[in-house]
Amino acid sequence: MNAADKIIIAIDGFSSTGKSTIAKSLAKEIGYRYVDTGAMYRAVTLYAMTHDMISPDGNVSDRLIVDALSDIHVEFHIMPDGSQHTMLNDEDVEDRIRRLDVSSNVSAVAAIPEVRHALVKMQQEYGKEKGIVMDGRDIGTTVFPSAELKVFMTASAETRAQRRFKEMIEKGQQISFEEVLANVVHRDHVDQTRAESPLRRADDAIDLDNSEMSFDEQNAWMLARYREAIARTKVS
Ligand code: DC
Repeated sequence: MNAADKIIIAIDGFSSTGKSTIAKSLAKEIGYRYVDTGAMYRAVTLYAMTHDMISPDGNVSDRLIVDALSDIHVEFHIMPDGSQHTMLNDEDVEDRIRRLDVSSNVSAVAAIPEVRHALVKMQQEYGKEKGIVMDGRDIGTTVFPSAELKVFMTASAETRAQRRFKEMIEKGQQISFEEVLANVVHRDHVDQTRAESPLRRADDAIDLDNSEMSFDEQNAWMLARYREAIARTKVS
C-alpha cells in the first residue's frame, strides 16, 4: 500500500471494553503500528507510586509528578514475537502496570493536565506518518480530532469487570470480582468527569457495543469500517 493511503484509526471507550485486543489485531492485519495510550498513563502512575508521589492510601501529589515529568521516559519495545512491551526508563514494566494497584491510581494521575499535555504530544508524534491504530479515551476528541476513522467502544460495567477479572485470575492475581467491578465503575466516573479532556464520544465516532459480540465478529466489523474509511479518503 502507498504511504499516502494510510489513515489514522482512533479507538476510544470505557475501560475493559477490549479496545486493545481489537486494536492490536486490526493493526496486525492491516500492517499498521499500534499504540496503547493507557499503558503510557499507567507507566507514569507506576513511576509516581515507586517514587513516593502517591501515598499508600491513594493521595496523589500532582506537583511532585509534574516536576518529575522530564525524568519519566515511556517507550514501547517490539519483542521478537511481535508483541509490544511498555518500557519505563528502560525497564520492562508491561506486566507490572496491569496490576490493580496501578489501575486504582491511574485515573487520578491521568486527570493532571500537565501529564495529559506531555503524553498527548508524544502520541501526536507517533501519528505523524499516519498508518497507526491508537486506543485510549481522548484519541478521537483531543489527540487526533481529524482521524479518518473513529470508533467508540462500550459494554456494560458487569461485562467489562467479568473480562478483567478473568484476565487477572489467569495471571495469578488474588482478587475478588467485587473489587474489580468497583474499580471499573470508579474509573468510568473519574474518566468521564475530569476537567481536562474527559472520556467523551467524538460526534463523528462510530459506536461498537461488543457486550454480545465474539472476537471474530468484532474483528470483521473493524475491518469493514477500515475499508469504508479507506474508500472515503480516496473519493474525497
Ligand atoms: O485503557 P487503560 O485501562 O489501560 O487506561 C488506563 C487509565 O488511563 C484509564 O483509567 C484512563 C486513562 N487514560 C486516559 O485518561 N486517556 C487515554 N488516552 C488513555 C487512558
